[in-house]
Amino acid sequence: MAYENILTEIHERVGLVTINRPKALNALNSQTMQEIYDALSAYDANDSIGAMVLTGSEKAFAAGADIKEMMDASAVEMVRRDFIGALYDSIMAINKPVIAAVSGFALGGGCELAMACDMIIASESAVFGQPEINLGVIPGAGGTQRLVRAVGKALAMEVVLNDRRLTAEEAYQFGLVNRVYSTEAYLNEALRIANEIAARAPIAVRLAKEMVNKSFEVSLREGLAQERRNFYFLFSTEDQSEGMQAFAEKRPADWKGH
Ligand code: CAA
Repeated sequence: MAYENILTEIHERVGLVTINRPKALNALNSQTMQEIYDALSAYDANDSIGAMVLTGSEKAFAAGADIKEMMDASAVEMVRRDFIGALYDSIMAINKPVIAAVSGFALGGGCELAMACDMIIASESAVFGQPEINLGVIPGAGGTQRLVRAVGKALAMEVVLNDRRLTAEEAYQFGLVNRVYSTEAYLNEALRIANEIAARAPIAVRLAKEMVNKSFEVSLREGLAQERRNFYFLFSTEDQSEGMQAFAEKRPADWKGH
């Protein structure tokens, strides 16, 4: 498919999506969000792909939702267009793991997009923030919700109320990002980790992702019950027999994905 604002390429078993609007620091207008979703969905449906990496440029992962696109909109128009909301929600429906490889600015909707992914690998120059308060609005795509769950109330309040920006190292210390690498290395490391995950038992990976994300939405009791059901369910897959047999025979497992 021909995209205007993103680039796509496949690295072994990983689909790479690169946001590519350099003149606007990868600001996320509706078209860009749609393209990101379309590319991720296409990889999600492709059996030769096991995980995805979403990245931007060295200077900007994404500097937020596109302010110029929304500046003149009325509240009714924002609601009618379901501005960014529907797309952020649908990214949550992607089944395969998505790793955000973040360098430079990850602000507003950019930070929210990274947080909507399953892991964040950052370059040492990454900057995370929710500066919407400067525009007279609040985060609209998860910034007040996912950030609290990642870093806790105290820091989230500073970020959301007073535009505190987090360096990559701070984001790592506070648990927002998984790992920090040099600017030269972060993307390759994200691809390496994604390829490692892509080489694992696909159905187990899918359910593992689903259940970790579920922990944000359901009670502990319900989450534990669903986890156990999925654990039992996996005993109906060939990969479970293969994985346990391979362990007993001291050989690598040969995953089939069923
Ligand atoms: N939307 C639209 N255009 C943007 C943009 C955005 N979020 N961020 C940057 N740009 C554009 C600039 O307008 C500029 O375009 P022109 O050259 O045509 O003027 C170009 O990108 C380069 O930006 P700067 O000249 O400002 O670059 P800088 O290096 O001096 O500053 C920056 C970088 C600190 C990131 C600054 O651009 C900035 O503050 N951007 C806005 C960040 C922001 O407020 N994000 C939140 C948006 S609202 C949101 O995301 C809502 C939500 O929750 C979903």
